[in-house]
Amino acid sequence: MTGFLPGQNLEKQVSDLRGEIRTEFGIELPRLPVPVNNPQTPEKIRLGEALFFDPNLSSCGSIACASCHIPERGLSDGDKVSDGCGGATGRRNSNTVYQNAFLSHLFWDGRVQSLEQQALGPVVDPVEMANSWDNVLKYLRTGVHPVSQKKFPGSAQFYKEYFERVFEGEITTGNVVKAIAAFERTAISFDSPYDKWLQGDDGALTEQQKKGAVIFFGRGECSECHPPPNFTNSDFHNIGVPNAGFEKKEMFRHNRDICGGIEEDVDPGRAEVPFLHTSCSDLGKFKTPTLRNIALSGPYMHNGVFPSLEDVMHHYEMLARGIITPMLGELDEDVEAARLGDAGGKTDDIRNVSEFLKALTGTQLSSPKRGIAPPPPEE
Ligand code: HEC
Ligand code: HEC
Repeated sequence: MTGFLPGQNLEKQVSDLRGEIRTEFGIELPRLPVPVNNPQTPEKIRLGEALFFDPNLSSCGSIACASCHIPERGLSDGDKVSDGCGGATGRRNSNTVYQNAFLSHLFWDGRVQSLEQQALGPVVDPVEMANSWDNVLKYLRTGVHPVSQKKFPGSAQFYKEYFERVFEGEITTGNVVKAIAAFERTAISFDSPYDKWLQGDDGALTEQQKKGAVIFFGRGECSECHPPPNFTNSDFHNIGVPNAGFEKKEMFRHNRDICGGIEEDVDPGRAEVPFLHTSCSDLGKFKTPTLRNIALSGPYMHNGVFPSLEDVMHHYEMLARGIITPMLGELDEDVEAARLGDAGGKTDDIRNVSEFLKALTGTQLSSPKRGIAPPPPEE
């Protein structure tokens, strides 16, 4: 796409850009991909929602999926790394669940390929919900939390009724993850000011955002990896993100086996996926995140190193100028080519692109109102 040319008529450039985006990417989201063995139904989605927000799926009884994927925070959380049961912390930033339905790979390193498969993990992850599936099924069947022995008769009734309606009463691990995945497939963000602008509403973007859009799709090269409509190419790239300060070698136990042995306290990203250990070209690559609802989900990057969008833009500018180089592997060529600020590195451009990213805030999920989530325990 053409670049933003300072001095030329902005409205003309913006309207040309709109034409190009419409032709190349269209103005709608693709059709929702749904596995044939797990069709979406309203009742399954509601069951999945209850499960997603239920802290009793954790051994400590206080951590739900939604504790780290908070609706009001872009289905991420506000921390660099998240707290699990007993204050244990992980080593990566909680990535957003928005637009996951469209992705071919999940997690920052893409090690999992479906939402159903993904949902099996957090329940038993010692730094997340630290539970066993046996315990989860016991709780769902009886309403008694097996660790604390607290009784939740309201939950028992809710789950009995909903598993009856959706899965003929079979409360199994497979059905739990199916329901959670069905709910996650409703986490789709659309109808942002950007979408309204693309559909023809000129006033939906501010002048700053329009300038930012021209850079995003032009000389910033952002749309090479973050193309509409979901603002991700679902692929892996090395964009030289620095350590966030919490990294320790115990967190990256495979580094000695990766690519013949690499630095011990750096996240190897995609290369950590077992079948890629010998692949040096995957070092330091992470999945391109969607930018929909991005303004809500800071801090940014796989390790949450950047608190604000402007910090992210500053990073890209430093990369393009060769001031920062990756700790592992090779910098992606498209980032090398990207220039945000022109010759003098104008902070205006950084601000304009950040403003444009805020125009990608659209539809959001909200935390369930009382009555949807399972009721609190009986005193
Ligand atoms: C303690 C915090 C925590 C809890 C609890 C948690 N997650 Fe996550 N979630 C994360 C982190 C951190 C990542 C990124 C991990 C990585 O990429 O290695 C993640 C990643 C994901 C992803 C992949 C998103 C993407 O864009 O690739 C999905 C989907 C997800 N979680 C769903 C769930 C579900 C469903 C549950 C409950 C069963 C859950 N999470 C519980 C922290 C949490
Ligand atoms: C070569 C591909 C590529 C290009 C070009 C690119 N990005 Fe990214 N972007 C990524 C990847 C990969 C990540 C995640 C990296 C990580 O966490 O280590 C990312 C992360 C981000 C994030 C943080 C998202 C989050 O959820 O934490 C923002 C914001 C962002 N990019 C905006 C932009 C903008 C604006 C541009 C243009 C200046 C741009 N990107 C250019 C691949 C790219």
